Amino acid sequence: MTDKTSKPVAVVTGAAGDIGAAIAAHLSHSHRVAAVDIDLEALKGTVSSLSQGGTDITPFRCDLTDAADLKRLGEAVRQIGQVDTLVNNAGAAASLTLHQMTPETLASDVALNLEAALNCFKTFEQDLIGSGSGTVVNIASVNGLAAFGHPAYSAAKAGLIHATRAIAVEYGKYGIRANAVAPGTVKTQAWKIRQEANPDVFEEALSWYPFKTLPEPSDIAEAVAFLVSPSARCITGVCLPVDSGLTAGSPALPRTFTQSSDFDGL
Ligand SMILES: NC(=O)c1ccc[n+]([C@@H]2O[C@H](COP(=O)([O-])OP(=O)(O)OC[C@H]3O[C@@H](n4cnc5c(N)ncnc54)[C@H](O)[C@@H]3O)[C@@H](O)[C@H]2O)c1
Repeated sequence: MTDKTSKPVAVVTGAAGDIGAAIAAHLSHSHRVAAVDIDLEALKGTVSSLSQGGTDITPFRCDLTDAADLKRLGEAVRQIGQVDTLVNNAGAAASLTLHQMTPETLASDVALNLEAALNCFKTFEQDLIGSGSGTVVNIASVNGLAAFGHPAYSAAKAGLIHATRAIAVEYGKYGIRANAVAPGTVKTQAWKIRQEANPDVFEEALSWYPFKTLPEPSDIAEAVAFLVSPSARCITGVCLPVDSGLTAGSPALPRTFTQSSDFDGL
């Protein structure tokens, strides 16, 4: 068993993915990181490359949609120390449109993007309370704030934003803060198939963004690290878009409304 008197533990789910790996790397400066993923091989690869920097990151295989797996995860993570941070980052989209959605893709989108995050919170509920200053960050999406396709995933992410507020309101008395981060388009392995279908997919997406740079995994990790840190000690129940302005609006419509070239691209 590891020394429990040192750094507290941050649980980061979906840590084999690009955003999760960036979050795990960032939080490893302040925490021991329990890196969780269903894909153990990929997770081991991520952890071994991050650990070359001398970081304290332990891999845990878990299917977050499986209750027995979650129970085992709670028991195993408790062996490495006191959990004070949970980052629910694992997520993926199955249904492309409502027309194509089936009961199976709807169930899988809701199970991973909403239910798994809440069940993971319940798994570590007592640990977060016991830490006296627990923090939860749920990785939502701009899809939880407006309609951009993948409707069942988006509805689940909107639910996750609500669940974040619910945790903030009910658990504030225990010193627990809960916030969400809503990334815009981030180039990760989740985009592989779409990029193969259309190599210009990121350039086309960028044309809708007011700020002409797409967020990278490290930008999401910076936001998470801030929300987890004491600098954010009075911030709870918010959803912080890290979206290069996408949810603020898109210049094309004001261009039409005003007929002003001030909204034209450079
Ligand atoms: N990439 C983007 O453009 C983007 C935009 C908005 C929101 N997000 C959100 O950011 C988060 C990370 O996205 P990403 O792009 O890094 O995705 P990713 O596909 O690269 O990583 C997701 C990880 O979750 C893991 N996972 C999937 N199902 C699991 C399960 N049942 N149990 C445990 N682990 C499981 C996968 O193995 C994978 O390693 C997701 O919640 C996603 O919805 C991503």
